[in-house]
Amino acid sequence: MKFVRFIMKNAALASVPKHIEHFSKFSPSPLSMKQFLDFGSINACEKTSFVFLRQELPVRLSNIMKEINLLPNRLLTTPSVQMVQSWYIQSLMEILEFLDKNPDNFKVLGEFVDALVTIRNRHNDVVPTMAQGIIEYKETFPQDPVTNQNIQYFLDRFYMSRISIRMLINQHTLIFDGTLNPVHPNTIGSIDPHCEIADVVQDAFHSAKMLCDQYYLRSPDLILQEMCSKKKKNLPMSIVYVPSHLYHMLFELFKNAMRATIETHDNSNTLPPIQVMVSLGDEDMSIKVSDKGGGVPFRRIENLFSYMFSTAPAPQIGERTRPPLAGFGYGLPISRLYAQYFRGDLQLYSMEGHGTDAVIYLKALSTDSIERLPVYNKTALKNYKVSQEADDWCIPSKEPLDLSIYKVPK
Ligand SMILES: Nc1ncnc2c1ncn2[C@@H]1O[C@H](COP(=O)(O)OP(=O)(O)OP(=O)(O)O)[C@@H](O)[C@H]1O
Ligand SMILES: [Mg+2]
Repeated sequence: MKFVRFIMKNAALASVPKHIEHFSKFSPSPLSMKQFLDFGSINACEKTSFVFLRQELPVRLSNIMKEINLLPNRLLTTPSVQMVQSWYIQSLMEILEFLDKNPDNFKVLGEFVDALVTIRNRHNDVVPTMAQGIIEYKETFPQDPVTNQNIQYFLDRFYMSRISIRMLINQHTLIFDGTLNPVHPNTIGSIDPHCEIADVVQDAFHSAKMLCDQYYLRSPDLILQEMCSKKKKNLPMSIVYVPSHLYHMLFELFKNAMRATIETHDNSNTLPPIQVMVSLGDEDMSIKVSDKGGGVPFRRIENLFSYMFSTAPAPQIGERTRPPLAGFGYGLPISRLYAQYFRGDLQLYSMEGHGTDAVIYLKALSTDSIERLPVYNKTALKNYKVSQEADDWCIPSKEPLDLSIYKVPK
């Protein structure tokens, strides 16, 4: 019996590349916030959601699995990346088992929810495991700008794909597990149709402050202001959004702002407060977090979003008990992806010697908040094949020029 199961498992494994090939030919279908809401409220139909997901999840998984295979071989073969890849294969196989099952059967629908929960748990540690793979790679091989650029391109797309897959899984499991969310009864899955920005700012600030007090035994205060365009005067300001995503971004920005403030003012008895400005216009909901933490040189700003340029020492996987104020150096890049996921953005404006403004831009209208998803196609493929070409801007020479040769002879 064991032997038969072993053969069946191997046969299923052997067919995986064929399935990836098939499903990666489809483009993922981006959903708008409004569609997520309609789906979860007016038309909440578990059967429809099941039929959509058993096709869409393999499509999103396969599209990104094609790109994993394009990573430099020396990175792809690290134990950590191999492990991540095996999780993706396992999860794809588990969803494919539902392809020929009857959507009218309640038992099937129940099993599907269970399968999604298993998959979500399996992928919990993807970010630190992938980061570990990058560290292993960086330790063994010298870095070159082209590989760095490819890895940055890949990881932005890989983590964005992961955010989107988790969003789909969360919506289905939260809406159809049959229980109401007792803390937030008005949320539709993980979406709050009236997500009050100031509340999330306060929550995230409070958590970062506790962490900061624990480490530095002091922390800066918060000054929060809200601005509204004339047409919409009603406060508090809210948009349709996923509070946990916004909380994640703000928590990361507050940790950074607090650390910079304290380290720059370590000889002073008072700390300048962190100021937050929330502004709602016709198109954008913008949230600016300003600190007086000394800022960052302009030259370094782009590197702060790089997965390869982390400054902090890497924490160990599974070390969850004492989250530090600085970890993998993924706070900014992952937060920017959360903002970009629903067509927003996150930008840093810094003045070295003074401080930093970090601005989160979100779409004010739920019809504009549409998933931003990577698709595997010829353009993506081309991005992995960029070769090292000569720069078309002059590189300043390191040695000071010997201008004496131009001296006019006496
Ligand atoms: N407000 C800020 N003021 C000054 N420096 C900043 C600020 N925000 C970020 N930085 C610099 O950018 C780096 C990268 O920030 P990021 O949040 O991505 O990673 P981290 O804080 O080092 O680690 P992690 O956030 O993963 O725990 C920081 O280490 C810090 O040097
Ligand atoms: Mg950080």
